[in-house]
Amino acid sequence: VLGPLVLGIETSCDETAAAVVARDGDGRARILSNVVLSQIGEHAAFGGVVPEIAARAHAEAIGGIVSAALDEAGVGLARIGAVAATVGPGLVGGLIVGATAARAIALPRGLPFLGINHLEGHALTPRLTDGLAYPYLLLLVSGGHTQILLVEGLGRYERWGTTIDDALGEAFDKTAKLLELPHPGGPSVERMAERGDPARFSLPRPLRGEKRLDFSFSGLKTAVRQAAEANAPLGEGDVADLCAAFQRAASESVADRLVLALARLRDRFPDLADPVLAVAGGVAANGEIRRALTALCARDGVRLVTPPHALCTDNAAMIAYAGLERLEAGDRDAAAAPVRPRWPL
Ligand code: KG4
Ligand code: ZN
Repeated sequence: VLGPLVLGIETSCDETAAAVVARDGDGRARILSNVVLSQIGEHAAFGGVVPEIAARAHAEAIGGIVSAALDEAGVGLARIGAVAATVGPGLVGGLIVGATAARAIALPRGLPFLGINHLEGHALTPRLTDGLAYPYLLLLVSGGHTQILLVEGLGRYERWGTTIDDALGEAFDKTAKLLELPHPGGPSVERMAERGDPARFSLPRPLRGEKRLDFSFSGLKTAVRQAAEANAPLGEGDVADLCAAFQRAASESVADRLVLALARLRDRFPDLADPVLAVAGGVAANGEIRRALTALCARDGVRLVTPPHALCTDNAAMIAYAGLERLEAGDRDAAAAPVRPRWPL
């Protein structure tokens, strides 16, 4: 037996996504469907997401994607018990499309509508995939966000650190662009780095050793540009070496900050039986960053939880799941504002 089925909709950036999630009789969350349509191809020629194009693409796709999510779950709309949608933060046009579609489904049927913060979706994903108990530490590293969050409970998030300039994924993407590698940059840089020598170029480790948990990546990107200019024209070997050096510097910066964060977690919760560091965001797919985190957690006796890649990147299952937790907590209309393009957790 399943509890209420929650339909989730995510349209905050360049993925149009819908999913159906419910809790089974044992209290485990189950993903009944998870459909994601990426707009990467539509933005590729522009080297980044164009808001107007994104909004139109969401508007064209949303109906079909919701239908596909219901089909994949094998249910009709009549079986849905609540509708959740990302209402911020993100690009306003896309948010309006998703939130309006969700309200139009919920209101005429008298169903609860749950407006979800996109970051809450990422933050709760390890509970969806691994049934984690509160509290845990979350490293969120995506194209738009770089944060260390203490997830203490539903709606109780403490931001321990963030980037003071570029997001980590953004730094990968900009580095790829300046080395003329294809978009999205993360996977391109990682592929090239495999053949490179990380020691040939010495790049800075911004904020290393500082007692705060913030990140900075724009200096790293600038250092790559300067090294590229100094060695122009670049051969393939040079590009590989630069990618390897960049990736090494990025993963060491992340690891450096997390040593501090894990120490703070222990201070705060000295009796925690099962301390956990979970990751989310597209950059969590990076092999070198994963290796650095694995080593760090092994040394510290902390469990590392890495949800499957498809649930680390933007998706609607995480929004449906956040909606489910909100519903279980008694929320019936979790967002008064139509959409909130800027909305810190
Ligand atoms: O979470 P995500 O799919 O979308 C949001 O930004 O919300 O993250 C996309 C970011 C992009 O910047 C992409 O270059 C990066 O994640 N990324 C990676 C890898 N795969 C994706 N960065 C480093 N290594 C990867 N293997
Ligand atoms: Zn995201």
